[in-house]
Amino acid sequence: MANVELQLDGSIGRLTFNRPDKFNAVDAATVDELDAALNRVEADAGLRVLIVTGAGPKAFVAGADINELKERDNILGRSASRRRQEVYSRLERLEIPTIAALNGWTLGTGLEVAMCCTLRVASSKARLGQPEVKLGIIPGAGGTQRLARLVGLGRALELVLTGEPVSAQRAYEMGLVNRVVEPDQLMDEVKKLAELLASRPRLALQYAKDAVYRSLDGSLEAGLAHESYLHALSCASEDKREGVAAFLEKRDPEFTGR
Ligand code: COA
Repeated sequence: MANVELQLDGSIGRLTFNRPDKFNAVDAATVDELDAALNRVEADAGLRVLIVTGAGPKAFVAGADINELKERDNILGRSASRRRQEVYSRLERLEIPTIAALNGWTLGTGLEVAMCCTLRVASSKARLGQPEVKLGIIPGAGGTQRLARLVGLGRALELVLTGEPVSAQRAYEMGLVNRVVEPDQLMDEVKKLAELLASRPRLALQYAKDAVYRSLDGSLEAGLAHESYLHALSCASEDKREGVAAFLEKRDPEFTGR
C-alpha cells in the first residue's frame, strides 16, 4: 500500500491519500488501493469511525492524476468513471460514519471523495472545487450528482460550470462542509468529532445514516416506511435498553454496540 495508507488500531481509523508530491492526485492504482483498504475497513469489527485525509500540508486531493487523463479516450473515460463511482459509493455506504479532514486543496475527484464521506471538516486554508471543465471534461465520479444533492442545483451549477474553487468559509456557508477550523487545529477537531461519534451506540448510528441517505431516493412515503423499519430494529437493540435505562437512572450509558 503506497498511495493509500490505512491505520486501523482501535475504534477510530485513518485513511490517508498518500502522494504528497503530487498533491495526492488519484490515479487508477490509488483507486484500486482505496478499494482494497475498504475491504479492510469493512472487516474490522472494532472500527467505529473512519477519518479520511490527505498527506502533506498542501492538499486533501487535488483531483484525478492529470498525467493519466492524457491517455483517456471515450472508452477509458467510461470505465475509469464507472470504477471510481463504484469505489467511492462503497466509501459512502460504509456502515460506520466517516469524516473527511480537508487539509488543503480539495479538487475534482478529491471533492467527489469528500462528498462520499458522512461529514466534512475543512482547514480554513482549504479550497474546494470541481475544475474539470477547465480541462475540457466534466466530473465523472459523482460530482455532478452529489454536489447538487448537498448544496442545491444553483450552487452546484456555479461550481461545476465555472470550474472555480471556493474558500472553506464559502463552502461552509453553502453547506458543503460541516465545520471550518484553523489549520493547526484540524486533526484535533476531527478527532474530537470522531470520539463523539464513536461514543454513540453503533447500531443507532448505522441505522440513522442509512435512513437519512434513503431520504434522497424515491418518495417520502417510501423513505418514511424505511425509517420506520430501521427505527423498529433500533428499538430491539441492547444499546437502546441501556441508553433509556441510563437516562432514567441519571448515569452515563455503557454501550456495547449490540
Ligand atoms: N494530477 C497530477 N499532478 C498534480 C495534480 C493532478 N491533479 N495536481 C497537482 N499535481 C502536481 C503538480 O504537477 C506538481 O508536481 P511537480 O512538482 O512534479 O511539477 C505538484 O503536484 C504541485 O502542484 P503545483 O501546480 O506546482 O502547485 P501549486 O500550489 O502551484 O497549485 C493546484 C496547486 C492544486 C492549484 C494545481 O496543482 C492544480 O490546479 N492542480 C490540478 C487540479 C485539477 O485540475 N484537478 C482536476 C483533475 S480532473
